[in-house]
Amino acid sequence: MSTDNRPIGVFDSGVGGLTAVSELRRILPNEDIVYLGDTARVPYGTKSRETILRYAEQDYDFLKNLDVKFTIAACGTVSSVMVGENAFAPDFCTGVIQPTVEAACNASKNKKIGVIATSASIRSGCYERLIKQISPETDVYSKSCPMFVPLVENGYTYRGCEAAAAFAREYLIPLKSEGIDTLILGCTHYPLLSQTIRDVVGNDVSLISSGAEAARYAKKLLGESGLLNRKSEAGILKLYCTDSAELFRESAAHFIDLEGIEIEKCSLR
Ligand code: DGL
Repeated sequence: MSTDNRPIGVFDSGVGGLTAVSELRRILPNEDIVYLGDTARVPYGTKSRETILRYAEQDYDFLKNLDVKFTIAACGTVSSVMVGENAFAPDFCTGVIQPTVEAACNASKNKKIGVIATSASIRSGCYERLIKQISPETDVYSKSCPMFVPLVENGYTYRGCEAAAAFAREYLIPLKSEGIDTLILGCTHYPLLSQTIRDVVGNDVSLISSGAEAARYAKKLLGESGLLNRKSEAGILKLYCTDSAELFRESAAHFIDLEGIEIEKCSLR
């Protein structure tokens, strides 16, 4: 059985991609993971396509130089501009769009799917296009939620936070009124607001986490390609960020248990 002990690389504009890391660690506990959060330049979701592509290329190159065997662009915004865009990533990598859309199409019974994501992702139309490709009879209702990322980056993720609840009502009541039974959390930050989101859309709507779906998809691809790590000891997680490591630790602590995990500030070129 073939094996590859090099780490898996994961990147995002900030801490949101850690939702993919959490799932990776759950389903592939022996894999080493290196994570890059470009915290000096977050958010990406309000930037132009050209700028996002340039940033993503630098993120990708940074991980490539650490000799990762596979890269997950665990950022809905980057993934949305990468669709059909192989220029900077000719190697083995995935974004979040394809796995997330497949999971949503499988989950939806009434063929009414809501999509929430950053402004750049919604503007790209990529979720809607792919849903229609896979399931032409599905109606898609999209909404950008620009306030969600700053709420998450600043830790306003606890249930009962009035500010987060107010924005959730503003963004989600229109989607709920359309009768959606499935909601794509198309930005990897959003699962941190799951409780708040659930309080608005109700328990009968399936929430699809883009980070978690990308992690499961990565496991499938690595397995099919004989690239899984066959070590018996627990994998090591190393985190890099482009702004203060201390600030990153504060935000990241909302996503994963950071005990014993090294965080290093780096610069990108
Ligand atoms: N985590 C990023 C995403 O999935 C969004 C954050 C940003 O706007 O940079 O889209």
